[in-house]
Amino acid sequence: MTSFLFVTDLDNTLVGDDKALVELNDRLQKHRQEYGTKIVYATGRSPLLYRELQVEKNLLEPDALVLSVGTEIYLDGKDTPDARWSEVLSPGWDRDLILSITEKYPELVLQPESEQRPFKVSFFLEQAVAPGVLSQLELELQKYNLNKKLIYSSGIDLDIVPLSSDKGQAMQFLRHQWKFAAEQTVVCGDSGNDIALFAVGNERGIVVGNARPELLQWYKDYPADHRYLARDFCAGGILEGLKYFGFLE
Ligand code: GLC
Ligand code: MG
Repeated sequence: MTSFLFVTDLDNTLVGDDKALVELNDRLQKHRQEYGTKIVYATGRSPLLYRELQVEKNLLEPDALVLSVGTEIYLDGKDTPDARWSEVLSPGWDRDLILSITEKYPELVLQPESEQRPFKVSFFLEQAVAPGVLSQLELELQKYNLNKKLIYSSGIDLDIVPLSSDKGQAMQFLRHQWKFAAEQTVVCGDSGNDIALFAVGNERGIVVGNARPELLQWYKDYPADHRYLARDFCAGGILEGLKYFGFLE
């Protein structure tokens, strides 16, 4: 056994099956102590909502945190985001201009204030009207030549973030910093904002058995040996995948 970089989404991926989570935590904790494996959470949640979940589910303290859909990276338990990463995201990012455009769409309902972040604007958007609204919005934003990317997840959440930002690019920033090969890195997820984790490179990927249709569709469209669709749900699916790839016995 050797060290690996473990990167996981939280809601409905790491979290969702309390019993399996206890076992996975135990295995990961021991692996970290014995081999220097690193644990990273990559979530859409803001710092506030992340802390709530961490306390509620008694999550292990990670080695780094990727919050707000990859727009904030926190290293070594610090409570300010890594400035080098913010510098990558800033050029051409214009939050106020984005808001002045999205204002015109009644279907876009702003998420709570805590989820509006320096490099992330988030809305609720009903699934039924999403395809039409998203293509119209995409066209309109293009006119302004803005640095932006739309990420739609779980049939309800719309995040607008800088082009150079998503969970996948944030994960690779950490992977390079810690010098883990793609083969020694594994990413886990269940929904739309996790696609970037799987799509960015050749890292090993575990799609949990309860994955949402948008991720399952993507998984079918882009088959690859380094990605695994688990049968089990949430932490159970992660354990299954880690054994499949030989990261755990
Ligand atoms: C989390 C965040 C929310 C975001 C969603 C999808 O639920 O709180 O702001 O839209 O993840 O990324
Ligand atoms: Mg999720």
